[in-house]
Amino acid sequence: MTTTNGTIENGQPDKKHPILPRPLCNLEIQHRKIFINNEWHSSMSGRQFPVSNPATGKKICEVEEADKEDVDKAVEAARAAFQKGSPWRTLDATGRGKLLHRLADLLERDRIILATLETMDTGKPFLHAFMVDLEGCIRTLRYYAGWADKIQGKTVPVDENFLCFTVHEPVGVCGAITPWNFPLMMLIWKMGPALCCGNTLVIKPAEQTPLTSLYMGSLIKEAGFPPGVVNIVPGYGPTAGSAISYHPDIDKVAFTGSTEVGKLIKEAASKSNLKRCTLELGGKNPCIVLADCDMELAVECAHQGVFFNQGQCCTAASRVFVEESIYAEFVRRSVDHAKRRLVGDPLDPKTEQGPQVDQEQFNKVIGFIQCGKEEGAKLECGGSAIGDRGLFIKPTVFSEVTDDMRIAKEEIFGPVQAILKFKNIEEVVKRANSSQYGLTAAVFTGSLDKALTIASALQSGTVWINCYNALHAQTPFGGFKMSGNGRELGEYALAEYTEVKTVTIKLAQKNP
Ligand code: NAI
Ligand code: MG
Repeated sequence: MTTTNGTIENGQPDKKHPILPRPLCNLEIQHRKIFINNEWHSSMSGRQFPVSNPATGKKICEVEEADKEDVDKAVEAARAAFQKGSPWRTLDATGRGKLLHRLADLLERDRIILATLETMDTGKPFLHAFMVDLEGCIRTLRYYAGWADKIQGKTVPVDENFLCFTVHEPVGVCGAITPWNFPLMMLIWKMGPALCCGNTLVIKPAEQTPLTSLYMGSLIKEAGFPPGVVNIVPGYGPTAGSAISYHPDIDKVAFTGSTEVGKLIKEAASKSNLKRCTLELGGKNPCIVLADCDMELAVECAHQGVFFNQGQCCTAASRVFVEESIYAEFVRRSVDHAKRRLVGDPLDPKTEQGPQVDQEQFNKVIGFIQCGKEEGAKLECGGSAIGDRGLFIKPTVFSEVTDDMRIAKEEIFGPVQAILKFKNIEEVVKRANSSQYGLTAAVFTGSLDKALTIASALQSGTVWINCYNALHAQTPFGGFKMSGNGRELGEYALAEYTEVKTVTIKLAQKNP
C-alpha cells in the first residue's frame, strides 16, 4: 500500500529483499538535550521528562524538558540565523540544496540507528520504520534538495507602463509541532520544504517520541547547517508547544496532530501575531468498495489501510463501505486477514503490529471498542487487549456498523476496522461526505467511469483508486474541512513556506 519506496507492497516489507536489515541491540541514547545554535543545552527550569518504550513499558531515558524560556532562546537563535547577511541568508540556492542532500546522505548512513530509535520510542515494527518511515524521509529530503534552486517568481504583464515581477522569499522563523505516530517523517515533511526555501526552524517533537528528532540535531550540525537554522525543543504541548504557537516572533507554524489542538494553534496564532498556520489533523476516511472490484486487492488494501502503524494513522481506512451484494464475503475475508495479523515484539522481523504508543491511546482505543459493542455493532474478531502484555490490542473487526455509531464518526486511532453496507453510488458518496473530516478516501472498482465519478464527488484532500496510502514526496497531502489547512509535500508545500513579493517598476518610456 505504501509506495513511497518500492520495497513495500501493501504495507508489508518485500520478503524478496536480498538482505533484511536488523535493529541494533543495546543502542545507547546519545542525544537527550535541547538543541539550540548547533549546541546541546540543559533546560532553564532544570526539569527533565521520561521517555519509555511502549513494547516493554521500560523507561529508555530522561530528556531535558523545554518550556517557554527555552523556546524563547531557540526563537532568538532562529531569528539571528535568519537575519539578512547571516551565513544562512547569504548561502546561495545551490548551497542550500547541497546541505539537504548531505543531510539525506547522513540519514542513509544512520538509517538503522534511526529506525531502531523510532521503534523503541513508538512501538512500530522495526522493518516498517526502516522501509517506510526512513525511506520516506530520505526521498522527501532529496526531493526538496532538488527544489532549492528552482524557487522562482514570475514576470507579470501588467496594464500601462510598468514592469512587474514577483520574488518568492522565505517566510522567516517557522515553528514545527509534530506528533508521535510518524515522529521523524512528520518532522521531515516540514523540515524539507522549510529549509529548501531558506527559512529557519524551531521544532517541538511529541513528548512521547522525541528521540529521532533529537538525533537529527546531531546530523544537522554534521551536515554543516549554520548555527540557529534548526533548533529542537523537546517538551509538552501546553508548555513548549503553546509557547511556539503564541510566540510573537515566529512567522509560521506547521502542526500535525489532533483536531482539538489544531484549533488551539489557530486560536493562539490569532491572539498573538497572526502567524501563518498549516494544520494536518484528523480523518475518518471512507474506503468505498464496489461489487465490481478486485475483491482480494480491496480486502488487502482495506486491511492494511486501517491496521498499518497499529491503526495510528490520520489516513486510516476507518470507515469501509462495502456494496451489499459482496458484503458478507468481504467481511469474511477481512476477518480472516485480521486473525492472521501477527502482533508482537516490534523488533522481530515477522511482526506486523506492535503496541499502542502509550496508556492514554490504549485506553482511548479500548473505550471505542467497548462503545462499538454497546451501540450494537457486530464484533467479528478481536475486541480486547492481548492478555496482560501492556499496550497490545488484538486486531478488531466490527461489521453491521451504522453511520450514527461513534465508531463510525470519531477518529479511533487504533487497530479497529468498521465495515458498513451500502446499496448505490449516490447513497455512499453522500454518507462518505457526511463527516466533519475530509483527509483521504479510497475507491475500489473495475470501472474507471465509476471511480472518477466518485473521486470527483468526494470532499477529500486525497482520493486513492484501487490502492491505499500511496503517498509520494511529489504529491500534495492535506485535508478538506476539519482535517486541516494547507498542504504538505510536493510543489504545493513551497507556497506554505514562502512569501510572495511583488516588485513594480514605473518605466519612463512607453513601449514603442
Ligand atoms: P496532540 O494533538 O495533543 O499532540 C500532537 C502534538 O501537539 C504533540 O507534539 C503535542 O505535544 C502538541 N500539543 C499538545 N497540546 C498542545 C498545545 N496546547 N499547544 C501546542 N501544541 C500542543 O495529540 P495526542 O493527544 O497525542 O493524541 C490525541 C488524538 O489526536 C489521537 O488519538 C489521534 O486521534 C489524534 N492524532 C492525530 C495525528 C495525526 O497524524 N493527524 C497524530 C497524533 C494524534
Ligand atoms: Mg493531546
